Amino acid sequence: MSVSDTQTVPRVVLGVGGGIAAYKACELLRRLTESGHRVRVVPTAEALRFVGEPTWAALSGQPVSTGVWDGVHEVPHVRIGQEADLVFVAPATANILARAAAGLADDLLTNTLLTARCPVVFAPAMHTEMWEHPATQANVATLRERGAVVLDPAVGRLTGADTGRGRLPEPAELFEAARLALRRGAAAPDLAGRRVVVSAGGTREAIDPVRFLGNHSSGKQGYALARTAAARGADVTLVAANVSLPDPAGARVVRVGSAVELAEAMETERVGADVIVMSAAVADFRPVASAASKIKKSGAAPAPIELVENPDILAGLVASRDAEGREQTVVGFAAETDDVIDNGRAKLARKGCDLLVVNQVGGGRAFGTEDNQAVILGSDGTAVDVPTGPKEDLADRVWDLVRQRLV
Ligand code: CTP
Repeated sequence: MSVSDTQTVPRVVLGVGGGIAAYKACELLRRLTESGHRVRVVPTAEALRFVGEPTWAALSGQPVSTGVWDGVHEVPHVRIGQEADLVFVAPATANILARAAAGLADDLLTNTLLTARCPVVFAPAMHTEMWEHPATQANVATLRERGAVVLDPAVGRLTGADTGRGRLPEPAELFEAARLALRRGAAAPDLAGRRVVVSAGGTREAIDPVRFLGNHSSGKQGYALARTAAARGADVTLVAANVSLPDPAGARVVRVGSAVELAEAMETERVGADVIVMSAAVADFRPVASAASKIKKSGAAPAPIELVENPDILAGLVASRDAEGREQTVVGFAAETDDVIDNGRAKLARKGCDLLVVNQVGGGRAFGTEDNQAVILGSDGTAVDVPTGPKEDLADRVWDLVRQRLV
């Protein structure tokens, strides 16, 4: 995309609040401009205490002001918001969330938030106590009800030595969140208020302290599902089995290793979930026992590894839902090498889930690649073909079909 082609260049307003995480917004800004976005930075006066105006002006190539009295002839307090394709606020402090929820218009950023008719995303960052305070939570709920996407902050090191929920996600993931928001355009965050649980990656079954039985799953499809669900406003929990990808912005990540650990995590997370998506590749079998020490060569023939079957987590989730009479949509994935549709239909019936995303694997397809292609089978007999494309396209198709099933 040519930056000079102002007709097609997406216009992003980057709102920056007065928090120490403002320095991460510099990197986000850089990524946005380098990928061809036209970015107008609108910091609060407090944000400039952390990162000065010259930095924002130089990185964006645009004028920077905090108040409504600069360049009045251009009516910036109205125009900046009206012309934006996306307003992305990072870090969004407790103060910004409160001012936005109250509809105040006391600086350029709050004026911009009131005039914007494009998608608005807040990436909050603050200390855990401030995030958890009922006042902040009420403000977040208000903003979400009005159609804004408010990404849950990440868990990790905060300003001082303390750790907890309240950290701004990493700039690369903020960039992904901004990109997905632009990609959705005017579409409403249709999963707002929904709790979704996505499993991703592949389980590892220990043979001894250094070896395991595993599979090729990279976790990319599950992470794409988590990212796109967050972009659609969902409350996302990602149960990740051995994935070495950065945490998607807005998702709560629970890490597991083995199938039994994954089963335990899903048993906890399924409660209160509106949607469960099992995209993790689960090992069907595990060694009966894991050796306490590394197994050594002895010169004799190797001892066979005795296996025991793992629980079928997906079938178990469906059985619990049905037994408890929950309104919950359950989605499975199937990796097939042959007779993809027939095997898929048989698996859908066997597992009892609502949707089964069937993709053909082997020959370099699906595992670790950026693209995916699949057929999504419905328990009502439907079959939706998703042509080869980014894993986010498949993820969005899954959410479209899930959305139709949610009451
Ligand atoms: N799955 C599960 N628990 C298992 C095995 C699989 O929850 N022990 C889930 C996967 O997460 C996926 C779906 O079931 O959503 C299908 O996985 P797949 O490996 O294709 O199916 P299997 O049941 O293992 O069937 P088979 O190996 O016979 O193809």
